[in-house]
Amino acid sequence: MLTHYPIKRSVLVPSLLYAQDEVGYVSNEVISELASRLDLTELEVRNVLSYYSMLTTKPRGKYNVQVCTNICCMLRGGEEMYEHAKQKLGIGHKMTTSDGTFSLEEVECIGACSWGPAMQVNYDFHENLTEEKFDKIVDEYAAKK
Ligand code: FES
Repeated sequence: MLTHYPIKRSVLVPSLLYAQDEVGYVSNEVISELASRLDLTELEVRNVLSYYSMLTTKPRGKYNVQVCTNICCMLRGGEEMYEHAKQKLGIGHKMTTSDGTFSLEEVECIGACSWGPAMQVNYDFHENLTEEKFDKIVDEYAAKK
């Protein structure tokens, strides 16, 4: 990736995403390795890591469900959708189902403001959610495992 970016530091976020996909989360070993390869301190890596909701330092479920409750989604039922998600999955914020299939997070804007309420499951966006649509989507992911 270094050849695609003007400076080494620019490679950090895509490298973190790549490593997370490989390892399942951003482990201490990943942080140390990236800091070393990109001439950064581990603190600099952790500072960037803590900013992005799609990055995690803890293992999470196979499908990470992120429900947006920020203003645009909130006005279209985002908070109620998040409550429904908690009920449906039986877990709360940053928790993982006992079988390891789903994790849940309440998140700020995911860039789908015109189509709220919205959620992101790993790299897939789901918009204009209703409770029925949410249930169908979750059931489809559960059937894939
Ligand atoms: S406010 Fe929900 S996606 Fe932007």
